[in-house]
Amino acid sequence: MFVISIAAFDAASSARGPFVPDTGIGAQGLLQLRVTSRHDGAHSFAQGHNERDAMGWYENRILPVLIDRGMRNEVMAEHRATTVPLASQTVLEVGLGSGLNIPYYTNKVDRLYGLEPSQDLLGKAALLADAAPFPVELLAAPAEDIPLENDSVDTVFSSWTLCSIPSLKVALKEMRRVLRPGGRFIFIEHGRAPDANVAKWQDRIAPVLRVLAGCSPNKKMDDLIVEAGFEVTQMEKSYLKGPKFISYHYIGQARSPLA
Ligand SMILES: C[S@@+](CC[C@H](N)C(=O)[O-])C[C@H]1O[C@@H](n2cnc3c(N)ncnc32)[C@H](O)[C@@H]1O
Repeated sequence: MFVISIAAFDAASSARGPFVPDTGIGAQGLLQLRVTSRHDGAHSFAQGHNERDAMGWYENRILPVLIDRGMRNEVMAEHRATTVPLASQTVLEVGLGSGLNIPYYTNKVDRLYGLEPSQDLLGKAALLADAAPFPVELLAAPAEDIPLENDSVDTVFSSWTLCSIPSLKVALKEMRRVLRPGGRFIFIEHGRAPDANVAKWQDRIAPVLRVLAGCSPNKKMDDLIVEAGFEVTQMEKSYLKGPKFISYHYIGQARSPLA
């Protein structure tokens, strides 16, 4: 693994990253992009198989469109409206997607880091980021390797993202690393259902959903959050509207221990 590019862009300048649509974003000068692409060179550049090309095309071009459309529904909007405003001070949102949470952050936020590995989704998020009344820095990186200093954020926020992260244990450790002691991790995530029959179907469908939607629906989020060293301070677990195998939710807050 090696870093192929680390650069800071002021979106208002002409040095805008290649994935940001040229729509005049950055007019307020509050939006910054940091492109931190990590590639396994041999893997990325030597693979010539059509099958892999097709998967790459699906993942890079089709999936971001499906994610953007799929995440725009009323039930989700209601939950965004109750969870996002809890975030304050310096906030890291992991898996920013197309930025649908951005309008829900309040004036309690001083700065938002929006971390998202999909360049297509970051391009969409840039439009909403530019309208935010606080500085936003978009980080093109995965949660397994967060390009921020230890203890540098007050809040980590995540909505419907943990299911998509391939190495979730590594990512949760990274989230803890960047969250200051006493800082809050606020989450709304779907995951493993308590009913054996539903969980069995979640296990069966996981490989298919992984490919089609980039999502593993069978992760037991509460256990994983605790294993990563967070102290859970609030947790609601229940089915929301929708098919049972994807609608069991873990909604809550956890704290990074003080010592
Ligand atoms: C279902 S979408 C949710 C997007 C957004 N959080 C929302 O609420 O609309 C899952 C997001 O996780 C992102 N993702 C996938 N792998 C990731 C990783 N390793 N680290 C961080 N985010 C990741 C996807 O690109 C996608 O934007």
